Amino acid sequence: MNLLSAKNISHTFEYELFSDVELNLQEQESIAIIGMSGSGKSTLLHILSTLLKPDEGTISIFDENIYEMSNKKLLKIKRDSLGLVFQSHYLFKGFSAYENLEIASLLSQEKIEDKLLERLKIKECIKQKVTELSGGQQQRVSIARVLTKKPKIIFADEPTGNLDKETANEVMKLFFEYCEDSKAGMILVTHDESLAHMCNKVYKLENKKLIKIK
Ligand SMILES: Nc1ncnc2c1ncn2[C@@H]1O[C@H](COP(=O)(O)OP(=O)(O)OP(=O)(O)O)[C@@H](O)[C@H]1O
Ligand SMILES: [Mg+2]
Repeated sequence: MNLLSAKNISHTFEYELFSDVELNLQEQESIAIIGMSGSGKSTLLHILSTLLKPDEGTISIFDENIYEMSNKKLLKIKRDSLGLVFQSHYLFKGFSAYENLEIASLLSQEKIEDKLLERLKIKECIKQKVTELSGGQQQRVSIARVLTKKPKIIFADEPTGNLDKETANEVMKLFFEYCEDSKAGMILVTHDESLAHMCNKVYKLENKKLIKIK
């Protein structure tokens, strides 16, 4: 089964960002997308993750065109199967880190795993309010929140942008292990080429095309 496939995706804002983008994601596979600032990486990730409809092209998730399925079905897929880790964290600000995880756990009926908190080194700060956490701590809490819901597809936009190199590598290892163990897939947007090359495949967004470089 294909987790996700994109066909002939084109999109224009003030100027044409990209055209004829093709991409396939399988179970246990990780794909990195690199490219210059402003090339449209985040926009493409928004399209792939169903948040934005492209001018042209189709996205299929679990081999079904998302633009032809019912709203109800798409909503269910979003809620149960897609995990978004984006540049701004969307944590609930009035709550503690742990309460944020509890919400994810409640919605998905999945347990909050102690091991996950340990791996992400957030056990010590888990009772604190989100607004009292550092940028990197918030980033790790939002990763914990996403993984708590056990998604089939992870979309991550610079998920380790606020982290030091060692912590970033640790977090990436966690993502890869998660994909392997849960038969999930990941699409990662990053500026960091060495991080990108930890993924199974690497694509570059350049001259309005998505080109496979690994
Ligand atoms: N909602 C929007 N409306 C209009 N223009 C937009 C919108 N979102 C993005 N753009 C424009 O599209 C272009 C690509 O933006 P995008 O955020 O996709 O780039 P990026 O490759 O992710 O860059 P960075 O590496 O800096 O994050 C930019 O010129 C941006 O101004
Ligand atoms: Mg971006």
